Amino acid sequence: MRTPGGRSSGECLTRRTALHCLALSSMAGLLGEGRRAFATEADGARPREGDRLAAEDAEGNPKALKLQDVKIGDKPLGAFPFNPADGIKREGSRLNRIILVRFDSRDLTPDQLARSVDGVFAFSGVCPHRGCDVTEWNDKDRMILCYCHLSQFDPRDQGAVFAGPAPRPLPILPLKSEQGEIVIAGEFSSEPGGAKAID
Ligand code: FES
Repeated sequence: MRTPGGRSSGECLTRRTALHCLALSSMAGLLGEGRRAFATEADGARPREGDRLAAEDAEGNPKALKLQDVKIGDKPLGAFPFNPADGIKREGSRLNRIILVRFDSRDLTPDQLARSVDGVFAFSGVCPHRGCDVTEWNDKDRMILCYCHLSQFDPRDQGAVFAGPAPRPLPILPLKSEQGEIVIAGEFSSEPGGAKAID
């Protein structure tokens, strides 16, 4: 193994070089701790502008989602934020779960279309009622559905509550696209997560 000074452990033989190697090893340990702390902080950080939305491929590696991966009328597609520059998957916090739904652009008003990217909308995947995973779809009304207590959210109205006990809208995440990939364009409209106590 090599230390940051390029000295191998086999070279740490004399008392003088041993002390030198000990100092370098400690420094390497501190640098490693720093990198681990940074990675932990970064992968739990909220999605930020420029992150891709990704899913895992068959080997568990992040694969940036493209617009055509989100099908019109399908149930919500789960995704997580991913920074391709440093390879960090922001999966350290469950509150970073994101879901994507898509509408035919011709069915959207100009305002709705402006809040989407080519008809694709992104929302928090955590229900603001009691924090269940939001995974389902009411195809008849075209609403996002949380099965825990049947709250429904309107993707075309910025996640407004359409039915059920949820006390507030599902946070929406602004999007843009680059070379066909879905890219995060800003922060959640409000803090994701469920209420701690509900009457
Ligand atoms: S946790 Fe989603 S409706 Fe209650």
